[in-house]
Amino acid sequence: MATIVGSVMTSHVPAIGGAIAKGRQADPYWKPFFDGYPPVRAWLDRMKPDVAVVFYQDHGLNFFLDKMPTFAVGAAVEYRNDDEGWGIPTVKPVRGDPALSWHIIESLVADEFDITTCQQMKVDHALTLPMALMWPGGGDWPVRVVPITMNHVQHPLPSPRRSWRLGESVGRAIRAWQSDARVLVMGTGGLSHQLDGQRAGFINKPFDLMCMDALVNDPVKLTGYSALDLVREAGAQGTELMAWMAARAAMTGRVTKVHSNYHVPISNTAAGLLALQNDEIALPKAA
Ligand code: DHB
Ligand code: FE
Repeated sequence: MATIVGSVMTSHVPAIGGAIAKGRQADPYWKPFFDGYPPVRAWLDRMKPDVAVVFYQDHGLNFFLDKMPTFAVGAAVEYRNDDEGWGIPTVKPVRGDPALSWHIIESLVADEFDITTCQQMKVDHALTLPMALMWPGGGDWPVRVVPITMNHVQHPLPSPRRSWRLGESVGRAIRAWQSDARVLVMGTGGLSHQLDGQRAGFINKPFDLMCMDALVNDPVKLTGYSALDLVREAGAQGTELMAWMAARAAMTGRVTKVHSNYHVPISNTAAGLLALQNDEIALPKAA
């Protein structure tokens, strides 16, 4: 059976792509952000995942307001990236894992999740930037990818509880997959941010830190919030936290925190990073 090695959750602000392209990682503005990632990369080097199952949001590159699936799962051999208008370089097509995709899709539908299945799918900054942060070097990433989008763009949004259950179901599917693959589960987006409207620029550090703490040891607590509670507490786009919740839910039981980072602001966003090792695997703990 496949093994879930752990989870990485990270923000995905488009400006990160510009900073990488221009080699700005050591600039005073960017350093506290980029400094979070090397310990996570070192951990990934030890964990050696073969596949990344990524919970994220499509911000209009693939789905737009006219057709917005609540949850969609990619089932393609590869996923193309494209210009979203942020002025960041596009990356090479991302390798898929159709066998795992279809296994997850079958399992989710059997579990009564009415998902959208995508045999063609473009992936936006919310998938490509977290990948580039984990594996720098321009797109030759050592993992295959199963993209799972969640609607955090157009209301009505799924609830945090539903997002948690989605993650649980995906986790069960991965653990039942007859393969010796090592699987990393990623959740991207957040933390608190609001890009427009009267509260543009809104950030809630105490709430973010509470969530990062809860995700380690008491994640179910976060399912008590409604989607609109998250809008209020974390800003309109802070609802992306639900992708972190889904990733956490894919792991049963206890996890060990490998590393975390929190830096305010990157662009309009409170940038968070959390790496969790699944305690079910027998591997040395990170320092
Ligand atoms: C920003 C943050 C996001 O999560 C996103 O998808 C786009 C932009 C920002 O802060 O600029
Ligand atoms: Fe976003």
